[in-house]
Amino acid sequence: MNQGYADIVLGLQYGDEGKARVVDMLCPKYDIIARFNGGANAGHTIETKDGGKVALNQVPSGIFYPDKILYIGSGCVVNFEKIALEIEKINNLGINLENRLKISPQASVIQPHHILIDSLTGKSVGTTRNGIGPCYADRAFRMIGERLTNIRVGDLLENSEEFFRKMLANLESAEKQYELDLANFDKSLINLKNSFEKVKKYIENDPLFLQKKVQAGAKVLFEGAQSTMLDVCKGSVPYVTSSSTIAAAAYSGGDLSPNFHRKTIGIVKAIMSRVGHGPFVSEFGGKESEEYCMSQEGEGPKYGKIVEAGYNLDDYLKSDNEFKMGIGLRILSGEYGTVTTRPRRVGALDLVQLNYAIKMNGVTELIINKCDLLKEYSSTANGKIRITKGYELDGQEIDYLPASTETYSRTKGITEFQESFTEDISGIRNYEETPGALKALLKYIEEFCNCKIVGIGVGPERNQFISL
Ligand code: GDP
Ligand code: IMO
Ligand code: MG
Repeated sequence: MNQGYADIVLGLQYGDEGKARVVDMLCPKYDIIARFNGGANAGHTIETKDGGKVALNQVPSGIFYPDKILYIGSGCVVNFEKIALEIEKINNLGINLENRLKISPQASVIQPHHILIDSLTGKSVGTTRNGIGPCYADRAFRMIGERLTNIRVGDLLENSEEFFRKMLANLESAEKQYELDLANFDKSLINLKNSFEKVKKYIENDPLFLQKKVQAGAKVLFEGAQSTMLDVCKGSVPYVTSSSTIAAAAYSGGDLSPNFHRKTIGIVKAIMSRVGHGPFVSEFGGKESEEYCMSQEGEGPKYGKIVEAGYNLDDYLKSDNEFKMGIGLRILSGEYGTVTTRPRRVGALDLVQLNYAIKMNGVTELIINKCDLLKEYSSTANGKIRITKGYELDGQEIDYLPASTETYSRTKGITEFQESFTEDISGIRNYEETPGALKALLKYIEEFCNCKIVGIGVGPERNQFISL
């Protein structure tokens, strides 16, 4: 039998570009959908059969295709409690994951102290509090003295009691370090044990599982989590996640030899967003927006989405103050955290940043989601679509992305205004029928980035997509 191959879908901006809806759409062409990085920090939305939505965190976005294997690679960190709940949620949709979901024995386990430490220390980055950073840090530590910090999925399978004892030692050590008195600390371990019992049947023994499948002909689609600008090295460090999110990481974290690589599909959204702190050159309202969005953490009527829902949309959208206009665009594009409802920072499509991401990942095909939302620019003061086409640093134009976060934060965008359109394109399925202004914009992006656009999203539903 001929050998198979692997393609990669990954985000090119700051996350939430609509990677999962693309993975869901491409599934029929593949045998295995595999995650290679991150964990429950990801929020991947796909449409259910009846037009509803389901958000996945750790399970790859191929759940609706019963013949597809879903693989969680060694580059991931596994939260057993959350994945047990996620599996239950998927079961409630009438989907059985038995013999389909496979978790690498080499993935690391999120331990109770990781979540504890992240909740105490993650505010300055604005983490998702899932313990991601502390878990990857403990993986790199390996051991601290005699204390084993990196506990892997396969360890639990081998001898769960022994490794739960080691987790308790890690928890006690964190307790001392952070001077905490956690009366209920072992409750979190009990929960973890119970969840592990439910999930252990999905653990794969063989670290070469994926490799062997592909050698035997399987086609793999790697599903990136987070995005290029959130990569632990290549992103806007330190305001990033703790895993390697770029295309090259698909093979180390996805447990496959890079010999099988075929192509890399980069996902972009037409109006960018970012959650968490850190540089965002094209952000509408710059620092003011960052501070405003990051102060809206929390749930309930005082926060984010609900507050902004009460605003007079027209006042905001038509304002010549960019920060206010950005609020208007956010309301219309629904850019709020799925869990916290905190507002996501929004900004213009940044082509300098996009070029960086395309080159970094060797992207061969681009998909641009949320093109339907571009029409909202027609209601702004000058009625034009904003694109960042250059960078300026201390009055000089630069053609690179500064590696120093301090410098990158000072970098200003040079804006290009392009014709907008007023048509609702969400019902269009044929590129020829799209407005001329959109065609011109897509051509501009292709030429600027020297990369082919193969599809555009014109709405969140499965069929609201135009292949080019
Ligand atoms: P991911 O993390 O990259 O998979 O993206 P998320 O699922 O976190 O966020 C993308 C959001 O945008 C989801 O709510 C999708 O339903 C929605 N979405 C994706 N593509 C489009 C599109 O083309 N138009 C619109 N209006 N929404 C989209
Ligand atoms: P998907 O896969 C958007 C952000 C967090 C924070 C930073 C570090 O849905 O695109 P972490 O919990 O990873 O230590 O947080 O990274 N972040 C994301 N932002 N989409 C994501 O995933 C993200 N995962 C992490 O908001 O700023
Ligand atoms: Mg997301």
